[in-house]
Amino acid sequence: MIFNLFKSKPTLKELIPNGYVDIHSHILPGIDDGAKNIDESLKLIKEMKKLGFSKIIGTPHTYPGLYDNTNNSIQKAYEKVKISKLDEIEICFASEYMIEKSVIEKAKNKSLLCIKDNYVLVEMSFVSEPYGLYEIIYEIKVNGYETVIAHPERYLFFDINDYIKLKKFGCLFQANLLSATDYYGINVRKRLDNLLQKKLIDFAGSDIHNTAQVSAFERKIKLKETFNFEKIIDNNNQFI
Ligand SMILES: [Fe+2]
Repeated sequence: MIFNLFKSKPTLKELIPNGYVDIHSHILPGIDDGAKNIDESLKLIKEMKKLGFSKIIGTPHTYPGLYDNTNNSIQKAYEKVKISKLDEIEICFASEYMIEKSVIEKAKNKSLLCIKDNYVLVEMSFVSEPYGLYEIIYEIKVNGYETVIAHPERYLFFDINDYIKLKKFGCLFQANLLSATDYYGINVRKRLDNLLQKKLIDFAGSDIHNTAQVSAFERKIKLKETFNFEKIIDNNNQFI
C-alpha cells in the first residue's frame, strides 16, 4: 500500500505496552555505571513507570576487576530501593555477568543470580569474541542454567553464522530496545533487523543506565522488522 510506504514509524515509547516487564536495567544505586545513588534510582524508576513499565529487574554488571559485585552487594543495593516502598511497580534483582572464567565457578556453586527461574543474563566485550566463550556457556548449561545473551546486535564482530551457532548451543537472545532507534548507531540497528528477520531474538530489555536513555524512548523506530520487534516485546510477558 502506497500510504503505508509513507506512514511515519512509531516512537519506541509508543511500542511499550502498559505492564511491560524489563529484564535488563542498571537502576540499582551505586554499584555499577548505572544509577549513582538512591535519588537517581528513584528518578529512573519513576520515569520508567511513566513509559509503562510495571516490573523492573535490576541487573548490575558483575565484571571482576571493573565491577566487583557479589550477590551480597547487589542485594544490599536492592534493599535501598525496596525500603522506598514504591507504588504500582515491582523491583527485582539479578545481574548481567561478563563472560569470563569466574562465571564457571559461580555456575558450579549454583550461585548465579537469575532474571527468572534458571535464566542467567550474560554479556561480552563489544570488540571480540571472549576467550573460552563456548566452554563458559557449556559450564553454565551443565550446571542447570539457561544462558540469555544481552544485546547480541551490539556484537558487530559476529557474523550471522556465529549467531546461529550460539542459538544451536541453546542460548537465548535479548535485544536492547534502544537498538531499534539507531541509539547505538545504524549498523547495530541493521544487525537487529537481520536477527529479527531470521527470528533469532527472544526477548527485549531496556539496558537503561540513566535518564538520557529514558528520554531516547521518544525517538522513532528505524527498523524494517517492526512487527517482529513488537512480538519480542510481548515475549517479555513470560517474566511477569
Ligand atoms: Fe546492561
